[in-house]
Amino acid sequence: RRVVSVRAEVQAINPEIRKSEDKVVDSVVVSELSKPLTAYCRCWRSGTFPLCDGSHVKHNKATGDNVGPLLLKKPKE
Ligand code: FES
Repeated sequence: RRVVSVRAEVQAINPEIRKSEDKVVDSVVVSELSKPLTAYCRCWRSGTFPLCDGSHVKHNKATGDNVGPLLLKKPKE
């Protein structure tokens, strides 16, 4: 019989970074991008890792965490 721990799924992964913010999101403008916006996962919960699929919302609600994606943005023309 296989025992699987679910404890890791309910723990916050951000113990100290910018905890005063509801969600830590950073963005970088990159002129060479082919798409206007690409979001990279930083919560390790995405089903489309390394891209963000919005799973951080459920993780943040379950754990009280505040993680969010890194956004790469193409400059506005
Ligand atoms: Fe991980 Fe959005 S799914 S940051």
